Amino acid sequence: MIATSPNNPTDIADLLAFYASAGADEALEEEPVNRFAEMAPKSPERVPEATAPAGQIPAPGPNQPSRPGISRLPDAPPARTPAATATVPDEAQAALARQLAATAASLDELRQHMAAFDGCNLKFTAKNLVFADGNPNAAVMLVGEAPGRDEDIEGLPFVGRSGRLLDRMLAAIGLDRTSVYIANVIPWRPPGNRTPTPHETEICRPFIERQIELVNPRVLVNLGGPSAKTLLNTTEGILRLRGNWRVHTTASGTAIPAMPTLHPAYLLRTPAHKKLAWRDFLEVKAKLQALG
Ligand code: URA
Repeated sequence: MIATSPNNPTDIADLLAFYASAGADEALEEEPVNRFAEMAPKSPERVPEATAPAGQIPAPGPNQPSRPGISRLPDAPPARTPAATATVPDEAQAALARQLAATAASLDELRQHMAAFDGCNLKFTAKNLVFADGNPNAAVMLVGEAPGRDEDIEGLPFVGRSGRLLDRMLAAIGLDRTSVYIANVIPWRPPGNRTPTPHETEICRPFIERQIELVNPRVLVNLGGPSAKTLLNTTEGILRLRGNWRVHTTASGTAIPAMPTLHPAYLLRTPAHKKLAWRDFLEVKAKLQALG
C-alpha cells in the first residue's frame, strides 16, 4: 500500500521499477472504472418482481442491450430464456460458451463466436483475441496456457521468447508452423500475465475443446501443467505427467493421443529440464511415424 504519491522524478521512476518487478507492466486505464455502475440497468424502469426472483438476474428483454459479461450473436439462439434465468453469472457464461462452441461448424465460425463472446472478463483488458497460428490441417496440435504480452499485441500464440524456443524445439523434430497448429486454453491475455482463475478457465474450456475437435489432430501436445490439467482431466503435476501418453477425448468421442510436456517458458527458467522436453518431443516424432 502506498501512503503518499511520489512527486519527484526519481521517486516516480523507483515506483515504476517496483511495479514492473512485481509484474504490473501495463497501465490499463487512466481512471479507475466502476464496472458495477456499468452493469446497472440503463432503463429507469424497475424490473417486475415476478420476472426477477430474489437473488436471480433478470434476462434482458428482446430489445435491451446485453450487459457486459453476457454476449449474444445476432443469429445465435437467445442466450437465456426466462425459464433458464441464471443465479450464478459465471455458470451462465460457461453455459453460453458451451452453446456457442458446440454450434460452431468450422474454425472460422468458432473464431467469430469467440470474438463476439463477452462472457470472459479477460477480453476487456486484452488487446486482441489470440485464436491460433499454424496449419489447421496439421497432424500435430499444441496447446499452451494463455497469451503473454507479445502474443496479445500480435494476436498470435507463442510469438515471444517462449515462442522462439518452441520454434527451435519443433525444428529439432522436423516441424514448423506450416506443419503444426498452435492455440491456448485461454485466448485472451490475463492482465500482467497473472494465472487465469479456475472460473476463467472453465468459461474458456468449451472453446479450446471445440477447437481441438474441429482441427482433429492425430496428436495433441499439452505445453505445461494448466493445458494438461484442463484438457486431460487430471490434477497431477506436469513433472509427473510429462513424457507419458494420455488421451484427450472430444465431445463426439474421438480419442486423441496427447503428450504432456514442459512449457517453453518454464524451460527458459529451468534450462536443465530441456532434456526432458527433448525426450517428449522425440516421443511425438515417433508417434507420428508410427501413425504413418
Ligand atoms: N505462453 C503460453 O502459454 N501461450 C502463449 O501463446 C505464449 C506464452
